[in-house]
Amino acid sequence: MPIAVTGSIATDHLMKFEGRFADSLVVEQLDKISVSFLVDDLQVRRGGCGANISFGLAALGLRPVLVGAVGRDFDEYRGWLEDHGVDCGGVLVSTTQHTARFVCTTDETHAQFATFYAGAMSEARDIDLAALHAERGFDLVLVGPDDPDGMLRHTQTCRDLGIPFAADPSQQLAFADGETIRGLVDGATYLFTNEYEAALTERRTGWSADEIAARVGTRVITRGADGVTVQAAGQAPVEVAAVPDVLAVDPTGVGDSFRAGFLAAIEVGLGLERAAQVGCALAAGVVETTGTQEYELRRGPFGKRFAGAYGSDAWDEVAGVLSVPE
Ligand SMILES: Nc1ncnc2c1ncn2[C@@H]1O[C@H](COP(=O)(O)OP(=O)(O)OP(=O)(O)O)[C@@H](O)[C@H]1O
Ligand SMILES: [Mg+2]
Repeated sequence: MPIAVTGSIATDHLMKFEGRFADSLVVEQLDKISVSFLVDDLQVRRGGCGANISFGLAALGLRPVLVGAVGRDFDEYRGWLEDHGVDCGGVLVSTTQHTARFVCTTDETHAQFATFYAGAMSEARDIDLAALHAERGFDLVLVGPDDPDGMLRHTQTCRDLGIPFAADPSQQLAFADGETIRGLVDGATYLFTNEYEAALTERRTGWSADEIAARVGTRVITRGADGVTVQAAGQAPVEVAAVPDVLAVDPTGVGDSFRAGFLAAIEVGLGLERAAQVGCALAAGVVETTGTQEYELRRGPFGKRFAGAYGSDAWDEVAGVLSVPE
C-alpha cells in the first residue's frame, strides 16, 4: 500500500541583482516607494515540502501519492514528478489560483526582497483525504507543511479512520498557536521536527518532552550536521550521526529529504536506527546540490557513502530491501 504525502507544492523563482538595493532606495521617500531592478539571472526551482518528500520517496523506489493543491500552471511540474515516479493522483487543481510561488531577489550584499504567494495551496483544505484513502488504502499519511486548515483536516481524517500518520509541521509551527499544534501532533505515529521546532512545539503546546513522547509513537529530532535523535515510546533514544565530510552547498530541502529517506526505510521494514541512517545519507546528497529535487540516486555511490558512514553490514541490510536504482 502506498504512502500519501500531503503538503505544499510550490516553485521558487530566484533572481540575482548585480548591485546594491540600498543604492536605489531613497529613505525619505519610503512612503512613495516604487523601484524596479534589472536582473540577468533567473533560476526556477521545483519545491514545496510535499513535492520534495514525494520525490525523495520515489528516488528510493517507492511510489508515493502526492496530495496537495496547485493551479492550472502545474502541468510541467506534474510531468517532472510523474517521470520521477510520483503518483500525482491526489493533487487538486484550482480553477482560480496559481500554484504557490516564492519569488526572491538577492543583491550582491545578500540583501533580499522576497514574496510568498500561497495561491492554490489554500485550497488544500478542500481535499477529501478519506475518499482518496477509500480508493487507494494508505499505509501511512505524512502531513507536511501546507494550508493550516488543510493540515488540521488531514490529521483529523487520519485519526478518525485510524490511518497511521507522520506529523511534519516544520515551518508552519512559527505561525501556529498551541491549540493548532496540539491538533497536528496528538496521536502521530511519527513526529518530525528539527531542534528549534522541537523546542517551539514544547513551548507553544505547553507539553513537556515527556508528555509529547507519551502522545506520539516515535519522535524524530534532526540536528543539522550534528545528526538526529530518534525517541520511540518506552525505548532508549537512538542517536545517529550525520554523514561526515559533507560539503554544504545549499541546505534547502535537507529536512524534506531526511524524512523521505527515513520513511522509505520504515516502509520496507527497516528499524529506526537504519531508517535514520538512510535519512541522513539522502539528506547529505541534497545539502551538496543546489535545489531540492536535482539529485539522482544511484546504488553504487549511495551505497559507498552509506557504508562509509555507517558500516558495510548496515548497508548490506539496507541494500537487501530498499530498491535504490542501479
Ligand atoms: N551540514 C550537514 N552535513 C551533513 N548532514 C547534514 C548537514 N545538514 C543537514 N544534514 C542532514 O540533514 C538532516 C536534517 O537537517 P536539519 O536538522 O538541518 O533539518 P531542517 O532544519 O529541517 O532543514 P530545512 O528545514 O532547512 O530543510 C540532519 O539530521 C542531517 O542528517
Ligand atoms: Mg525543516
